[in-house]
Amino acid sequence: MPSQRPFYVTTPIYYISGTPHIGHAYTSIAADVLVRTARAHGEARALTGTDEHGQKVANAAAAAGMTPQEYVDALAPKWRELAPSFDARFDDFIRTTEPRHARACLALFERMRASGDVYEGVYEGWYCTHDETFWPEAKLVDGRCPNPECRRPVQWLSEKNWFFRLSAYEERLRHLFRSNPDFLRPQSRYNEMTAIIDEGLEDFSISRSSFDWGIPLPGGGVLYVWYDALINYISALGWPDDRDGLYARFWPGMHIIGKEIARFHTIIWPAMLWSAGLPIPTRVFAHGWITSESGTKIGKSLGNAMDPFALRDEFGADSLRYFLMREAPFGSDFSISVEKLRQRHNSDLGNDLGNLLRRSLAMLQKYRNGIVPQPTDGAVAERVADLPERVREHIACLRFREALDEIWNVVTMLNRAIDEQKPWELYKHARGVELDALLYDLCEGLRWLSVLLFPFMPRKAGAMWAQLGLDGTPERRWEDELVWGGLATGTQTNPGAPLFPRIDPPAA
Ligand code: MSP
Repeated sequence: MPSQRPFYVTTPIYYISGTPHIGHAYTSIAADVLVRTARAHGEARALTGTDEHGQKVANAAAAAGMTPQEYVDALAPKWRELAPSFDARFDDFIRTTEPRHARACLALFERMRASGDVYEGVYEGWYCTHDETFWPEAKLVDGRCPNPECRRPVQWLSEKNWFFRLSAYEERLRHLFRSNPDFLRPQSRYNEMTAIIDEGLEDFSISRSSFDWGIPLPGGGVLYVWYDALINYISALGWPDDRDGLYARFWPGMHIIGKEIARFHTIIWPAMLWSAGLPIPTRVFAHGWITSESGTKIGKSLGNAMDPFALRDEFGADSLRYFLMREAPFGSDFSISVEKLRQRHNSDLGNDLGNLLRRSLAMLQKYRNGIVPQPTDGAVAERVADLPERVREHIACLRFREALDEIWNVVTMLNRAIDEQKPWELYKHARGVELDALLYDLCEGLRWLSVLLFPFMPRKAGAMWAQLGLDGTPERRWEDELVWGGLATGTQTNPGAPLFPRIDPPAA
């Protein structure tokens, strides 16, 4: 990421028939933190959207007494709202029912056929409609879908379909994983995928003829929903016509996904692209699951989905974003609860960061009429010199928590500077030079924090910026902005409301 090359990141496209829950918000927020950091270094683009085809959708539409198109049109707006509700800013939102997507899918299909990798055959096997996946008989558990989150009955399907010669790409995939371990992170998922490749890859069917809610193929049948879905990452860039030049500029990009869909993204998708003669994604990161306190994956079908909108209303988008990025290493499972959110909100955000801003500006107000004194070049300047690079490096490797740890070390250091140097004593003993030096360090430190925190908490970082008396927003190029001494002497600060008012549990 944040390199000179234009950067492109995607979320999975969400199943339209689901209900947005905290897990979907998690992926979208992570992509937003990443792309905001990338935008602070160069050109960057982020994509999200909805996955709208497949038998599951057709069945749900029929149950609702609607045509599939009416059904997906009715559901799309709530998915469009998801990212903006958490201040996640995507450059495009793709729906797989859009004509631009169908065009790209058919073009890719044709290319793969021309390369001899797509052939006709009869498919017979066990199909789980819920997961839209074929399962070999040996994998079934008591005759049911082997996915532990599903375990629904499977159906026997037999139909004439198009097949993709995935088996032909086994060696190339093995080589990809071996020669580029960073292609898929974290290591646990990498190990899982290499084990799948080593078991041997089978061809699989990429079309369906038993139902028609999908992208129609010229000779009959529709494309398999996962085949169609993966192509969204390039159809949204305008491939193959590329009239706006987006594909040429941004592809290949990186994918952020949940760990359960790594096989599709790191085995099937690269093989599809190779077959069509196109570049494969630069990297894939498969994050962990948010679980309930009891450890089960949160999801609609389990009935324990935490409503992300209710959590946002209670804690605010920034506090929720912060929690999700700080609570666990990206890649590990972790649990969420209102108590844990409250704890981080009150302690990390309220006591550490919020108080640092409040105390610093209050003292500046009291001792210097709120006006920023002369810059200094002391210990703080030295301490933060390589902070932007370290934070950027962590974020580039999706170590969001570690990036926040680094930033928080500075918050702690500045709070400690107040406690140790006791500005009230400096003032009392007329040690003006030292007092100015400390006040400048605090304000300039806060300005840096506001720029560095902008990708994580855009609103609160903006509020910090405004209280420091600065114009515009902290959305800046780090290279230009994070130069010590950038806060001008004479700036009139503007202390305001507390950033993170305390949230107490409801009275019993
Ligand atoms: N439509 C497919 C993806 C196609 S991409 C070409 C799909 N959709 S989904 O609606 O089920 O969303 C899956 C994504 O939502 C996961 O990959 C993950 O990013 C996110 N999450 C869903 N539940 C989650 C948790 N409980 N925890 C964390 N993320 C989860 O799969």
